[in-house]
Amino acid sequence: MDARSEDLHVVNRVKALLGEEGYAQAFAPIEEASGLPNAAYWSPEWLALERERVFQRSWVFAGAEAEIPEPGDMKPVEIAGAPLIIIRDQEGAVRCVHNVCRHRGARLLREPCNRSSITCPYHAWNYGLDGRLRARPHFSGPDKIDRFENGGGEKLDLVAARAETWNGCIFVNLSGDAEALEDWLAPLLRRTKGYDLSSIRWAGKLDFEVRANWKLVYENYMEGYHVFALHPKLLKFAPMNVRWSGEWDAHVFYNDYVFPELQEGRGDSLPHYPGLSEDDARRGLWSLCFPHFAVEVFPDQFTVLVSYPVAPDLTREELHIFLIGEAAICDEHRNAREAVFSMWDDLNREDLGVLELLQQGRLSPAYDGGRLSPHWEGPTHQFGRLLIEKIIST
Ligand code: FES
Ligand SMILES: [Fe+2]
Repeated sequence: MDARSEDLHVVNRVKALLGEEGYAQAFAPIEEASGLPNAAYWSPEWLALERERVFQRSWVFAGAEAEIPEPGDMKPVEIAGAPLIIIRDQEGAVRCVHNVCRHRGARLLREPCNRSSITCPYHAWNYGLDGRLRARPHFSGPDKIDRFENGGGEKLDLVAARAETWNGCIFVNLSGDAEALEDWLAPLLRRTKGYDLSSIRWAGKLDFEVRANWKLVYENYMEGYHVFALHPKLLKFAPMNVRWSGEWDAHVFYNDYVFPELQEGRGDSLPHYPGLSEDDARRGLWSLCFPHFAVEVFPDQFTVLVSYPVAPDLTREELHIFLIGEAAICDEHRNAREAVFSMWDDLNREDLGVLELLQQGRLSPAYDGGRLSPHWEGPTHQFGRLLIEKIIST
């Protein structure tokens, strides 16, 4: 298939799944538009399109560098449905390889571990931390060992995936042809230039299983409209009248507010960013680098929220909490740190029930994507449009 007929083919697949009307809604003005149709939340074919056309071709957050701090540390991850391993190699660099043996295709690693090499659990092919094949015992006959001083070449070494790091965050791009990572992050960095992001230190993570489509997590994340109904403590911190809808700048969503005073878990007892302006010391901001790298910045933290689709109605969500400076992750601040973790745990659990309801509501043939608030939900609508544009883009 040539490139033009491939494009047409994708557009036709999108329209077949969403319907002409559902497709057109994504491009309608917010006053008339509805959200994405139910199929975008339930269809396995739609999820396959998202994996193949969005997650594989974008930068995706794959974990924190602090999760693999020492040479030989490795961790299995799954991105766009593909099993991968992130590895700290002997030189201290972060690498990513596909988590599949080049012999019969066994998955190599199940759990995070520290090893000097990777041995396949099936016939014990052995690979170095650089992914290159090192040895194949008995492959050429009993008691013979094939050894490879310089790896086995492109048919035998583990397949590498493009991986880069930024301030302790590891990003992977499976297609290998996404823009430079710094260009992808640029709109976020423009909005956070008052914050010394080189000072962020990983303090740990929270894991959630969400019985809803991954998009619902972000659609909910963007809008402050539901805060008065779901989040009493957050509402006290930042009432409805300091909130606005936020806006997209290219593929990056941005929203913020100025809060009246600090709160436990939000800036009140941990170190703040060095040299933070008075304005930013009273600001809460959150941002989403499409498709899934969301961050929330308070004066004392940089929290990363990422969702990984497992199935149309199941999402794995991780919150990686970065605090400011080495002292923040040492013993002296243990209690304040725990307050940040429980703030996030409570807040996120307040959302989980509603996310499930949104997923279940999308089983109803009486739901057509709904009516959106032009005041609050323009960016939510635009998220759907960006998704379709990315899927049909060349
Ligand atoms: S499948 Fe890995 S060595 Fe055989
Ligand atoms: Fe919420």
